[in-house]
Amino acid sequence: MERTFAIIKPDAFAAGDAGKILARIYAEGFKVVGLKKLYMSKVEAEGFYYVHKERPFFGELTDFMSSGPCVVMVLEADGAIKKWRDLMGATNPAQAEAGTLRKEFGKSIGENATHGSDAPETAAFEIPYFFSGLELL
Ligand code: RTP
Ligand code: MG
Repeated sequence: MERTFAIIKPDAFAAGDAGKILARIYAEGFKVVGLKKLYMSKVEAEGFYYVHKERPFFGELTDFMSSGPCVVMVLEADGAIKKWRDLMGATNPAQAEAGTLRKEFGKSIGENATHGSDAPETAAFEIPYFFSGLELL
């Protein structure tokens, strides 16, 4: 079993889509190991996305991620990292395949409804950034 880190981003949470996204998560066979709503600060968003700090969209991205509440989750499944990336679809909702979460719930490349770890090393950083061991029992 593998674990990945996922976010229902502020756009999807504000739109009232968190329940529908969670229903898809269960329907696809993930175990929800950790889940909480939080309202990230700008500094917390910058720390989370530090790998992108030199990218031109860093300011816009961290403004957006700290613009409202989101839901952070730890999901478990066989091949959870790829399985969740596949369910999310392409970064740009306009290029995401039908049936993916970003196609259904994303609005733009910036406001694209969900986040997912892109590799085991990324998950190993992202999971403990938001969850303690006790929260994942
Ligand atoms: P994520 O990290 O959120 O799961 O998304 P991703 O792997 O598919 O995409 P990544 O390249 O890691 O980019 C992180 C997030 O930055 C925003 N972005 N904006 N304006 C732009 O050109 C642009 N490019 C990326 C997106 O919200 C993307 O999810
Ligand atoms: Mg990424």
